[in-house]
Amino acid sequence: MIAAGLVLVTMATLAAGQAGPPQTCPPVPDINPCQCQVKKNGLDILCEATDVQHITRAMSALKGKNPIIFYLKLRHNNLPKLQGFVFLSLDIRHLTIHNSSLAAIEETSLSSLGRGLTQLDVSQNQLMTVPSSALKNLHHLLILNLNHNRISVIHNRAFEGLDTLEILTIYENKLSSIEPDAFRGLDKKLKRLNLGGNELTAVPQKALAILDMLRKLELQENRLKTIKEGDFEGLQNLDSLILAHNQLTEVPARVFSHLILLNSLELEGNSISYIDKDAFEGLEENLQYLRLGDNNLHRIPSEALRPLHRLRHLDLRSNNISSINEDAFVGFGDSITFLNLQKNDIKVLPALVFENLNSLETLSIQNNKLTRIPEEVMEPIMDSLRVVDIMDNPLICSCELVWFPNLLRDLKNRDDEMTQKKRPMCTMANEHREYYVQTMPLERMNCVGKKYQTSSLSGNGQSGRVHGGPGALTVAGMAVATAGVVGRQLWMAGAGVCQYYYY
Ligand SMILES: *[C@@H]1O[C@H](CO)[C@@H](O)[C@H](O)[C@H]1NC(C)=O
Ligand SMILES: *[C@@H]1O[C@H](CO)[C@@H](O)[C@H](O)[C@H]1NC(C)=O
Repeated sequence: MIAAGLVLVTMATLAAGQAGPPQTCPPVPDINPCQCQVKKNGLDILCEATDVQHITRAMSALKGKNPIIFYLKLRHNNLPKLQGFVFLSLDIRHLTIHNSSLAAIEETSLSSLGRGLTQLDVSQNQLMTVPSSALKNLHHLLILNLNHNRISVIHNRAFEGLDTLEILTIYENKLSSIEPDAFRGLDKKLKRLNLGGNELTAVPQKALAILDMLRKLELQENRLKTIKEGDFEGLQNLDSLILAHNQLTEVPARVFSHLILLNSLELEGNSISYIDKDAFEGLEENLQYLRLGDNNLHRIPSEALRPLHRLRHLDLRSNNISSINEDAFVGFGDSITFLNLQKNDIKVLPALVFENLNSLETLSIQNNKLTRIPEEVMEPIMDSLRVVDIMDNPLICSCELVWFPNLLRDLKNRDDEMTQKKRPMCTMANEHREYYVQTMPLERMNCVGKKYQTSSLSGNGQSGRVHGGPGALTVAGMAVATAGVVGRQLWMAGAGVCQYYYY
């Protein structure tokens, strides 16, 4: 009770904005070449491009006054070994030893910091193993950064004692092996784990399985060739899984079935050519972000995607998709707000392909092989669309593209951020020259009617586009001037009713 009371008093004091005992920096010559600044929460000390002797001397100058050292940053130094007791009787909260050739951390160098240290960053050094014995007393550590070292194995119980750790990052090491009990002790608190940029050839399933509280797991830039059912068992709180830039070729059935809370799945930059129809089983209720770009898919994996009725963001850029079925988005399209199909090989968009995409706001279909994007394809998404990119397609100038300048103008009126800088081109078949789609010479293209200015209905099917407020009748009459297609259609849409008249 007394302890609790003290904590409350301390917090009240802080809340009232009154500092504890006044913090003061030692005289400049005593800590030179390190620099000291007094900050709100304690001292901020920086030592750069120096050596063990100078750092040890600066630490001695700090002892005795019991200051709170909120940040101690040692960067670009020559500090191959962290000596025992170097920080003894210092109260350091955040310690960084970055790019300092650190290869060894003596057991007693950090143990005295156990009461106060919450962040330890020893990135960009020469560590070959996790310095387990030096870490084991850091009972208040929240964040441990071991990025850019040379650690190749994580031994059993490497992090034992770090029972408050929430974030562990070991990005860009040489990890090829993680023993089954490697993360023992982290099971109750660890929320984020970054194992990216290593040499793992398999998901370290046994080691990961105890991490009940893990929310984000990063395994990108490894050498994973396969993932299989059961690999992610035990991670029932996972929110985000990153498997990008590995060597995966398949996504097998039920591989993520334990990840019932997963919100975001990143699989881009693999060589995936096959996605089982049950690949995403278990993700139905929560998956919103799915990134499958830079793979080797030949079609939209609609069967696998259909159960994902919460999906909002689907990225299929840079695959090898050459055709899309009319029912490609049936079942899961309703919730999608972002669809990226850029850099594929798509030649034709079926008339009703976007019919289910009722929430679509951003559509990227640039860099495909489309010669036509008829208004009837775009009509179902015109009301919700805010950003559309059709650049870098071999478009043929045609009246059926009038929707594009119309949409641009609408978006401008709505004051939305449409990428006005992107100006798609089309080729005028009989003139063998290119125009911006925005400024096609409609009068020379035999587009029927008075172009697309708003006007009253003229009753002969030659009217422009009319806007009269929400739910108003929209009528567009146009002659299709695409090479090879002759004829005229009046197309009407009002309150969700579509009718086609052909003459
Ligand atoms: C690392 O520190 C050395 C000095 O020890 C310096 O020359 C080098 O530029 C630093 N590297 C980076 C990436 O900061
Ligand atoms: C893309 O698909 C076509 C067949 O549809 C195939 O000939 C080609 O090799 C594929 N490209 C890649 C990069 O896999």
